[in-house]
Amino acid sequence: MSDKKLQGKIAIVSGASSGIGQGIAVRLGRDGASVVVDYRHDKAGGDETIRQIQAAGGKALLVQADVSKLDDIQKLVDATWEKFGKADILVNNAGVEKGADFWEVSEKDYDMVLDVNLKGPFFLTQAFVKKLIEKNIPGRVINISSVHEDMVFPHFASYCAAKGGLRMLMRDLCVELGPKNITVNNIAPGAISTPINTALLNDKPKLNALLNNIPLGRLGSVDDVAGLAAFLASDEAAYITGSTYVIDGGLMRNYKEQ
Ligand SMILES: NC(=O)c1ccc[n+]([C@@H]2O[C@H](COP(=O)([O-])OP(=O)(O)OC[C@H]3O[C@@H](n4cnc5c(N)ncnc54)[C@H](O)[C@@H]3O)[C@@H](O)[C@H]2O)c1
Repeated sequence: MSDKKLQGKIAIVSGASSGIGQGIAVRLGRDGASVVVDYRHDKAGGDETIRQIQAAGGKALLVQADVSKLDDIQKLVDATWEKFGKADILVNNAGVEKGADFWEVSEKDYDMVLDVNLKGPFFLTQAFVKKLIEKNIPGRVINISSVHEDMVFPHFASYCAAKGGLRMLMRDLCVELGPKNITVNNIAPGAISTPINTALLNDKPKLNALLNNIPLGRLGSVDDVAGLAAFLASDEAAYITGSTYVIDGGLMRNYKEQ
């Protein structure tokens, strides 16, 4: 028997051409899953994810899909079933943030943030579980939310609204999907070193102030988050549903907005 914990599993990871999504896709592949790597625009990033999965001995499929579009969502799920004949794990990772004073937020920017961070996971999860329910097979849904599903983030009201919504969506679906043997959990990262934080990483005073707020004294890495996702996707997490797993180096317990 293989010692790879996810051998034989099929995983879909949204927004997997960079950052946390790329790290999770590669880790799930290394643990034995066949991985469907979703990207929106960055094909080169998606190709790199595929390359790393294959280098680790895993199988992967690259699919272009914008999670804010229902047709693309269906295409992503259909491509998975066509290629691998099933799907077991969905990681709703794709996300964007857009900072502005609350009173300046445009409808366009609000829609963009809510569409990617909340509408996307809502309808991608719907398309994913429809097939599972039809075939009567179990499943795992892992949403990458944020500490801001719970903690304030002034000047990022739309992001907070979306991630807070994702928290309640997870709690609601845990009850509705539990009887179908589908678990739903959130991972809430704190400050992780990825492209979404480029502005912060380049602003040394702000970065140092943040580091002072993190008891473990460093930013999180993509691998830190990927390890937690791999655990939640594994058989060891079979009885876990309806919870948020915070991974933030202690930030939430020691946060002061600058
Ligand atoms: N980095 C952090 O500190 C941090 C903290 C908390 C939560 N998160 C969350 O982690 C997730 C990943 O972010 P990241 O830090 O890796 O940043 P990132 O910018 O590298 O990753 C976001 C990914 O989402 C993809 N994406 C955006 N819109 C999309 C769409 N419409 N369809 C498909 N894909 C789309 C992007 O192309 C990108 O690959 C996000 O949901 C983010 O909110 C990140």
